[in-house]
Amino acid sequence: MTLTDFKLERYFAKYEFTTKHLLSSSDCDGYPLQYILDCATAAERKLYDEIKLGYTDSPGSLFLREAIARQYKTITPDKVVVTSPGEANFALMNVLLKPGDHVICMSPAYQSLYQIAEDLGASVSYWKPATENWHFRPADLAALVTPSTKLIIVNFPHNPTGFLPNAAEQKQIVDIARQHNTVLFADEMYHQLVHEDKDQIPAFCDLYENAVSLWGMAKSFGLAGLRMGWLASHNQKILDQVLAFKDYLTICNNPISEVLTTIALNHKEKFITPNVAKIKQNISLFEKFASEHANTFLLNRPTAGSTAFVKLVNGETAMNFSDRAVREAGIMLLPSEMFDYGTQHLRIGFGRASMPQSLDAFKKYLFEK
Ligand SMILES: Cc1ncc(COP(=O)(O)O)c(C=O)c1O
Repeated sequence: MTLTDFKLERYFAKYEFTTKHLLSSSDCDGYPLQYILDCATAAERKLYDEIKLGYTDSPGSLFLREAIARQYKTITPDKVVVTSPGEANFALMNVLLKPGDHVICMSPAYQSLYQIAEDLGASVSYWKPATENWHFRPADLAALVTPSTKLIIVNFPHNPTGFLPNAAEQKQIVDIARQHNTVLFADEMYHQLVHEDKDQIPAFCDLYENAVSLWGMAKSFGLAGLRMGWLASHNQKILDQVLAFKDYLTICNNPISEVLTTIALNHKEKFITPNVAKIKQNISLFEKFASEHANTFLLNRPTAGSTAFVKLVNGETAMNFSDRAVREAGIMLLPSEMFDYGTQHLRIGFGRASMPQSLDAFKKYLFEK
């Protein structure tokens, strides 16, 4: 299998650590190690102090899988495999797909969600949203399913648009998959990062026996550096296959990250609640900024997640505009070309406390140009 370059990650590799104003990151600011330790109970602190740097249990240590299982309604620790999110996705696609299989994936989407399937030789159909409000309609998904559809891939809250289905739409998506006995992979990396509590929806693995849910520490928790994620599913066969595949990759997890992840999960609200507050504040700031520059940007306010897909209306391509902004003003944007989704949108990220300064620099740049 030859892997196509991951455009978005290559773009970040080029600019993320050399650019002053990051306006397109999807993660929330990383919490300091001490913040996690300050949340710990005496028993959790003991777990941390007694970490041994040997190999760990391949699916994830039991204490961690117990903490993960508590995040779901129907999942037990044996229904969880822990690994980095990218690896989880890679392993899952490899065990599920072979050349010629039919797959449905949302578009725009985080590239690995469709690229690995394509590179494995699957034929991918794309579920596209209504562009005026980024609404992904279940009826449009239903129209793409064929008798040979092997896998449906969704990502909610959605990167980059911030779309989240309501509970009724989520049920329709599950019904579509169940009717065709199709495996549903739900990338829920932004799970619970929902701007109004009333909009929260359950994890797909709690609703459908053939759903595989992915969640992890990078986005909702602001702990990307832990490199931790997991798959949760009632489909034991798939989990066993992923675990066997993992033997050729990392084999097992880093014990320090396992303990820190457990502590963060056990004190979830101390991580997610401040992130949601920051995201909402930053969206309001950006909304004001976009309305002051209405000849350049059109924002469709997201309801969940940490990003929005903002329309560039000044006639320039997103790639050209982003290129200018990063070279001339040290402002990093993410053009829709990196999502294989046309040339007219920019992903903006709201998870960073530096947003006011970044917007000031952006205003100055737009004024001078
Ligand atoms: C939808 C989605 N899935 C998976 C990932 C990968 O997460 P991580 O960076 O923690 O490996 C990302 C990261 O941006 C993402 O946006």
